[in-house]
Amino acid sequence: LFSVKRRKYRLPPGPAPLPLLGNLPQIDKNAPFKSILKFSENYGPVMTLYMGWQRTVVLVGYDAVKEALVDQADDFTGRMPVPFLFKATKGYGLGISNGERWRQMRRFTLTTLRDFGMGRKGMEEWIQEVSEHLRAHLRTFKGKPFDPQFVLSSTVSNVICCLVFGERFAFEDKQFLHLLTIMSKILRFNSSPLGQMYNIFPWLMEHLPGYHQTIFGYIKEARDFIERKIQEHKETLDPSSPRDYIDCFLIRINQEKDNLSSEFNYDNLVSTVLNLFFAGTETTSSTLRYALTVLIKYPKIQEKMQQEIDTVIGKDRCPRMDDRKSLPFSDAVIHEVQRFLDIAPLSLPHYALNDISFRGYTIPKDTVIIPLLHSVLKEEKQWATPRFFNPQHFLDHNGNFKKNPAFMPFSAGKRACVGESLARMELFIFLVSLLQDFTFSCDGGPDSVDLEPEYSSFANLPRSHQIIATAR
Ligand code: HEM
Repeated sequence: LFSVKRRKYRLPPGPAPLPLLGNLPQIDKNAPFKSILKFSENYGPVMTLYMGWQRTVVLVGYDAVKEALVDQADDFTGRMPVPFLFKATKGYGLGISNGERWRQMRRFTLTTLRDFGMGRKGMEEWIQEVSEHLRAHLRTFKGKPFDPQFVLSSTVSNVICCLVFGERFAFEDKQFLHLLTIMSKILRFNSSPLGQMYNIFPWLMEHLPGYHQTIFGYIKEARDFIERKIQEHKETLDPSSPRDYIDCFLIRINQEKDNLSSEFNYDNLVSTVLNLFFAGTETTSSTLRYALTVLIKYPKIQEKMQQEIDTVIGKDRCPRMDDRKSLPFSDAVIHEVQRFLDIAPLSLPHYALNDISFRGYTIPKDTVIIPLLHSVLKEEKQWATPRFFNPQHFLDHNGNFKKNPAFMPFSAGKRACVGESLARMELFIFLVSLLQDFTFSCDGGPDSVDLEPEYSSFANLPRSHQIIATAR
């Protein structure tokens, strides 16, 4: 069957698949992106692999990824309807939808994120406020070692809370802690072996008992929490002065109530809010955590950032985005942290909504498409020392910031991360303000720090380290 398809369509080349299992036995579960990159040495930058029965085309290297996602954007914008995510969002929202629903939700989210300078409080001010609470919390450790994972993920979730609910929660708030815990369990389930089983046999597992039923309960709890917040917003809404994302959405629902093709409805609101939490917390907080680990590993880089920050901003005011252009070294370090961590090596799966012609091949409808971001962020052709942490990748000879189009941790094209500008604001303001107030180290010294990430949840995640924040 596989080879008949290959002849009929002139599929991109790839290794011979086994019946039912496809190429899965040849792929390293702990680092699938590495096995896939290895295949491309034999089969080139556009390859067909079979993940079980699922036909998958992988794009390798900057040229192929850019040509598909940017130059042929209309063909490559589809998203795979991952069954578990479909279940969690009931098929609504921005993250896994396609067509008109996706277009309307995406445009609205981008505009609302951009316009939030005009709201009661802009995102920049919210992030500055959250960063003050983060630093106050770190001071309570009084220079003793702690694991920064929890405090950073609460901090970053709080930014999404500010955006969507217009409020920030205290670190000790029981309701908030519960929401964080269940969100993290839901996210982890998606990539667990049971979650993978669900993604292959959803109709079968739907009615079987097991841990997945507990997770479905958590999804209901998370949705109930969001629905309660929406109800509170409805009761206090002043259409002339929207406070946050939910207010803006409710106003649009009302404006478009007579428009039959409108996607502004209650289900899309609940699921898009859920998307923002799922996509916007673990990614940003893990990147921040990795940045601290890198600075502990390379104390000279940390010192140089602090000197630059002290000279340009001083210690008496919170950093703002305007400062970024005057802090080229710090900006380069943050970019290099993202390049080196490579948090989403496989991006999120795209999908052929129709047959696609690409580089003389046909990618048939219903094929999963993986833009291998790992292969772009670590490509020999694009970076002087791709396997080493080197902020010079983003600096010219005069020490000015230098862009590189192969910097694609947020992917590229029409489906690229909708939260990119928010995430970049968070990384910059949180890190710069942390370095104004603290020097980071660890008990075992720089040599004890392992920068090699662990692959899990479709992501390269930094290893856990106990760190010390010494007040400056
Ligand atoms: C999608 C990376 C932060 C919301 C994505 C994708 C990547 C990504 C690789 C897939 C793009 C594609 O399919 O081509 C990151 C990284 C982040 C980050 C590295 C932080 C360092 C955020 C934040 C938010 C967010 C803060 C929320 C405000 C989303 C959403 C999508 C997405 C909703 C789906 C977009 C769509 O399907 O149209 N992100 N992200 N992300 N991200 Fe992010």
